[in-house]
Amino acid sequence: MLNDQFNRVHDYLRISLTDKCNLRCSYCNPIDLPKGHFANSNKMSVDEIDTIAGVFVQLGVKKIRLTGGEPLVRKDAKEIIRRLSKYPVELVITTNGVFVHEFIDSFREAGIQSVNVSLDSLKMRKNLIITGRSEFERVYENIQLLLKHNFHVKINTVVIKGTNEDEIPDFIEWTKQQPVDVRFIEFMPFDGNRWSNEKVFSHSEMLKLIAAKYEYISLQNEKHDTAKKYFVPGHQGSFAIISTMSQPFCTGCNRMRLTTDGKMKNCLFSNNEVDILRALRSGQDIVPLIKQCVWDKKEALGGQFTSAYKNIDSSKINNRSMINIGG
Ligand code: 5AD
Ligand code: SF4
Repeated sequence: MLNDQFNRVHDYLRISLTDKCNLRCSYCNPIDLPKGHFANSNKMSVDEIDTIAGVFVQLGVKKIRLTGGEPLVRKDAKEIIRRLSKYPVELVITTNGVFVHEFIDSFREAGIQSVNVSLDSLKMRKNLIITGRSEFERVYENIQLLLKHNFHVKINTVVIKGTNEDEIPDFIEWTKQQPVDVRFIEFMPFDGNRWSNEKVFSHSEMLKLIAAKYEYISLQNEKHDTAKKYFVPGHQGSFAIISTMSQPFCTGCNRMRLTTDGKMKNCLFSNNEVDILRALRSGQDIVPLIKQCVWDKKEALGGQFTSAYKNIDSSKINNRSMINIGG
């Protein structure tokens, strides 16, 4: 078991398959961010991902999420999905949805049941502004395809004040007709993403806006939930709010991350990284490194800032950009 000093058991691993993405979401992969991608030789190969994942599974991991960048732009994504499907874990994926139609069989054969799709606006033009690419129709069609094939679909919507908070009711209206679970995510600071506290549209602001139009009910949260869940009676889907900034959920955290260059991060916001890939390549036993990395996890938010997000100076935060960490 992977325990830290705060008695948190870590059984959820998020593996970033690539730092590349076909979209340019302003909050994640800004157009003006220098691209310096990792050289292929520094990236985990299929075999290395398989081996490292196997070690994590032996250490108690029960859930693996594939992320990126955009995981499906990696040429050997299907092979990775296939190889990981042999482990007794819940395998899930986060994608921008653009290539999903090419992967339906691959997901199904690997036993993937739940797919998170990033979508920040239901309007074509606004999507173009946010993502820098014109893929809205394709993504929307692919969400329909996933629903048709009975996948559980969660929509990740990053809410940025002044950009898309006005669409929150439209997303909730969507849950009336279709069984999608929309997750509104508070805007988080990462390298190069022009975060400022004024752009955070908080959990309480979201609920206030929603309450003006809908009567919602809170759902019971489970221990490791990062999202507070709600639903509107009569709607087929539900909604949730991920309040990283205004109400962090670190006390129940069970997550660990592996970047595409094989570095382990014990928290999205941690600035200390453990080079698992280099250790593996040099024939070292990676088990003690993984255990130590979990043990060193800070109590909250990587120890980088307090929950008072209104006082955060984003220039003082030392982290990778989101695209280089993996969502
Ligand atoms: N703030 C909040 N969420 C973010 N994501 C990416 N960057 C940010 C950010 N700055 C989320 C996107 C995507 C997932 C991988 O991470 O919603 O779905
Ligand atoms: Fe690509 Fe997802 Fe980042 Fe957008 S949020 S740039 S789709 S990785």
